[in-house]
Amino acid sequence: MESLVTMIGRDDEQGRLAAFLAAPEGRALVLKGKTGMGKSALLGHVARRAADAGHRVVRAAGVEAESALPFAGLHQVLHPLLASVERLDPVHRTVFDTVFGRSGGKPPSVMSLGIAVLDLLSLSSSTRPLLLVVDDGQWLDASSVAALGFMGRQLAGGPVKLALRLRSDIAG
Ligand SMILES: Nc1ncnc2c1ncn2[C@@H]1O[C@H](COP(=O)(O)OP(=O)(O)OP(=O)(O)O)[C@@H](O)[C@H]1O
Ligand SMILES: [Mg+2]
Repeated sequence: MESLVTMIGRDDEQGRLAAFLAAPEGRALVLKGKTGMGKSALLGHVARRAADAGHRVVRAAGVEAESALPFAGLHQVLHPLLASVERLDPVHRTVFDTVFGRSGGKPPSVMSLGIAVLDLLSLSSSTRPLLLVVDDGQWLDASSVAALGFMGRQLAGGPVKLALRLRSDIAG
């Protein structure tokens, strides 16, 4: 966890982050930029603003040593929410059991997993809006990037937001 940074400057970025948080609908925001330019500081800033505004905030970060482990990143992101899996319908529960290794079986498609994730997010944001903050997304495993990408494109209409740092060379 980074130390508390008192933000200096970055008025444009702070304004865009404030608009992202204030938007009535769910959406995804991607941060890209050169090493050391302040991406983690901005993500910490938006996480604090969101918590102050009453959001539930879940934070995660890609880990280089886990970048070849399928679904390790997704597990880290969803870990604080997984207690609610028991309340999902059995089809979606089975999807999580498979990808997180609680039962055998063929991994689900990106779409089946993405829909199960959206169901879990919907349940987890029923009483207050939810912000997922994912730093160092350049280290996320490919399976997690695919699942988070699907999820991020389907957030409109709900109360869930995603702020994600990605590698500069990934489009979108
Ligand atoms: N706007 C700011 N005001 C004050 N300090 C800042 C600001 N932006 C960044 N810093 C400081 O600069 C340093 C580098 O910033 P940070 O770690 O956020 O960069 P980064 O883009 O996440 O780097 P990396 O690419 O290595 O992950 C940190 O010590 C951070 O606290
Ligand atoms: Mg950083």
